[in-house]
Amino acid sequence: MAGRLDIISEMESAFENGPGDPNLSTILTGARGTGKTALLLYLSRIAAEHGWISVNVAAIPGMLEDIIERTRDAAANFIDTSEKTRLKGLTVGQLLGLEWEPGATAGGNWRTRMTRMLQALNDQGIGLLITVDEVRPDLDEMIQLATVYQHFVGEERAVALVLAGLPGKVSSLLRNESVSFLRRANRYRLGNIADEDIAEGIRLTAEEGGRSITPEALTQAVEASEGFPYLMQLVGFQSWAQNPGEKTISLEDVLRGAEAAHRNFTERVLEATYYDLSPKDLLFLQAMLLDEDESRIAVIAERLGEGSNYASTYKRRLIEQGIIGERGPSYVTFELPGFRAYLEAKLGPLQI
Ligand SMILES: Nc1ncnc2c1ncn2[C@@H]1O[C@H](COP(=O)(O)OP(=O)(O)OP(=O)(O)O)[C@@H](O)[C@H]1O
Ligand SMILES: [Mg+2]
Repeated sequence: MAGRLDIISEMESAFENGPGDPNLSTILTGARGTGKTALLLYLSRIAAEHGWISVNVAAIPGMLEDIIERTRDAAANFIDTSEKTRLKGLTVGQLLGLEWEPGATAGGNWRTRMTRMLQALNDQGIGLLITVDEVRPDLDEMIQLATVYQHFVGEERAVALVLAGLPGKVSSLLRNESVSFLRRANRYRLGNIADEDIAEGIRLTAEEGGRSITPEALTQAVEASEGFPYLMQLVGFQSWAQNPGEKTISLEDVLRGAEAAHRNFTERVLEATYYDLSPKDLLFLQAMLLDEDESRIAVIAERLGEGSNYASTYKRRLIEQGIIGERGPSYVTFELPGFRAYLEAKLGPLQI
């Protein structure tokens, strides 16, 4: 997980500290391909090292029931495989017996059933991490989860909640009064990764696979990654795949690999991002295409025939989605690698 050391070590100490640590409630936001899902899974592994089991779900109907089922499975697996001393003497049957014995399961609503399981886990010194990916504002179960979780925190149970989603979806969720508790959660925005971290990530990954990479090739791979996590992964993968039998990854491999990587990136990230956008978001971006590089907000508003409030609203939405970024108070520019060229080909600039 290149460039994500801060959040990883914060979460690591949260799992170590247990109940009361504010970082146990964390929300990750980031544009498509910034590594939200990958980080959630990584955090689950870190949690396991500290005696926490995790359940990973997505915000879709049936999520709450899924959490119950996954908790049960995770508990069974963890106890089967862990050699942690704190778990010694505990048998699957003991833990499962509390909630999962036939006939004992049905009782109570979701909160009651979860409380019973949490109690059983916590009694054994095991915490529960719940991760929810692809957060969306319009799912009732999301609100229920947040409400019950707030009770668990109040009861000082060893429980953690890490949410991940696109910035726009997360901010509309947080506007809902019923989840005001979540507004106080630790927020972490996944942005671009520094070039040094990308270089190290690629080099170490190659070395782990038993190959080396020449300095020129590494520089080229960093450049082609444009600070973007998914692009980095694709550039690394495709460069490796050019001549997998060779001891060393060459500049030539990276040049060809980067080309393939950019094609994959267009299909998997730029297109997905495009279809997430509203027609008005797109108009704003088309108006930006008329500028060579940076666009002035006041000029965009004028091109759209709208006032400055309108332009600021769309500016904020697009910044939240990781598509554009601010350059000083009154200018914006494209930030998602390749998205300008993609829109130019797809829609062309605004006709005025
Ligand atoms: N910090 C990182 N270091 C190395 N590889 C990374 C990093 N972050 C993400 N990746 C890689 O980039 C790819 C995209 O990441 P991921 O699917 O987690 O993004 P996402 O934010 O969940 O995207 P989406 O919004 O489309 O679901 C994955 O293949 C992942 O392994
Ligand atoms: Mg994802």
